[in-house]
Amino acid sequence: MMKSTGHTLIASLTPIHSVISKKHPRLYPNLLYCNLTKPRKLLYPQTCRFHKEAVMVATRYPPPWFSVAPMMEFTDNHYRTLARLISKHAWLYTEMIAADTIVYQKGDLDKFLAFGPEQHPIVLQIGGNDLNNIAKATQLANPYGYDEINFKFVSLDTCGCPSPKVAGKGCFGVRLMLDPKGKFVAEAMSVISANTDVPVSVKCRIGVDDHDSYNELCDFIYKVSSQSPTKHFVIHSRKALLNGISPKENRSIPPLKYEYYYALVRDFPDLQFTINGGINTIDEVNTALREGAHGVMVGRAAYKNPWNVLAHVDSAVYGAPSSTLTRRQVLEKYQVYGDSVLGIYGPNPNVREVIRPLLSFFHSEPGNGHWKRQVDAAFLKCTPETTIKSFFEETLAAIPDSVLDSPITQASIGFPDVFADSKRLLPPPYMVQEEAEELLYA
Ligand SMILES: Cc1cc2nc3c(=O)[nH]c(=O)nc-3n(C[C@H](O)[C@H](O)[C@H](O)COP(=O)(O)O)c2cc1C
Repeated sequence: MMKSTGHTLIASLTPIHSVISKKHPRLYPNLLYCNLTKPRKLLYPQTCRFHKEAVMVATRYPPPWFSVAPMMEFTDNHYRTLARLISKHAWLYTEMIAADTIVYQKGDLDKFLAFGPEQHPIVLQIGGNDLNNIAKATQLANPYGYDEINFKFVSLDTCGCPSPKVAGKGCFGVRLMLDPKGKFVAEAMSVISANTDVPVSVKCRIGVDDHDSYNELCDFIYKVSSQSPTKHFVIHSRKALLNGISPKENRSIPPLKYEYYYALVRDFPDLQFTINGGINTIDEVNTALREGAHGVMVGRAAYKNPWNVLAHVDSAVYGAPSSTLTRRQVLEKYQVYGDSVLGIYGPNPNVREVIRPLLSFFHSEPGNGHWKRQVDAAFLKCTPETTIKSFFEETLAAIPDSVLDSPITQASIGFPDVFADSKRLLPPPYMVQEEAEELLYA
């Protein structure tokens, strides 16, 4: 019902970062992929044929100078629909979906994989530790038309299993962390790539516990990029700690080391790197790009303050005209979407799930607190007859017209020196270790 058919080229843009784009031409410049449209049987890398005329799917869109991070239980269809109403050009990531889930829920795939066509460009994030299931999941996802497949490597987000969605599915994040040389990830990426015709990428942290030297990170990147068609890495610029701290703490306690990110950009000129972690404003996004980042991924800030972050992406990052929609107009469109999806999977989605991404829509605005109290009260009164329209009628009076109807305001100023140290602290250039070469050619 919601299957996407893919989009054509978006009108050309005048990027604000023309200097950057000259230095770093569009992403995926050399990326070839196997031309394997909807393969019928599982393919392993040795069967992969690279075609000269390979069309680069991702170049149908402006490159991922800005992307919204995958966030389990947050970047669902509802959030992504809202995000796309605010920014046309931001790349959107799904929540991580376990390959095993895709394979075992084969009869119910739309629930996990379907998305509205307006959500392009959209990246599917898969996690897993079983190559066979990773291959099958990739194949099952192909018909949905994602623009890229991202594989999640180091993350505690699925370990410690905070989320009921992945609890009991095995903490594959931990197992993958014990693969510091990237052997498994290289295999997984080859398998994914051999079973899809879209670009592939890896999202990883900069290290784990004591495996946190720049050289170890480089060995991993070298191995994965040399032994699989992976040319794009999303770098969450802090390491993961396995000492029992919660996934949430793991997103704030390990310090950010942007210097590792910028050193990767320096040392792997043929690869593309997206920086992630602790970037909160469009001002900081642009600073990261000016400093040489190929792309910037924003997670929590884009969820906690969607209007103020996303509404500036098209103009301030892509140099495209800003959306002229006011918050009221966005809500009108979102309401139509919301009412069209309520209950399509039996009890789900329900009103609460559809409304959830809006809870920070009025961040810091007059009426926000009052609106949230109204929303809490209205949730308690929800009946099967409640629609998103009726929900809005009951609650939105709490927000002044001036907020609902005002155009996008000035973007918030970021922390000016956010990347200042990263150039000063750059680690020495990477030299391929003998061990890494041996592993590669063994
Ligand atoms: C609630 C939540 C869920 C997350 N789920 C995922 C996930 O499914 N896959 C993933 O790779 N990262 C996940 N992350 C990590 C984010 O993608 C991102 O790397 C991290 O939040 C750092 O970026 P930020 O500082 O901009 O938020 C999650 C983060 C949060 C806050």
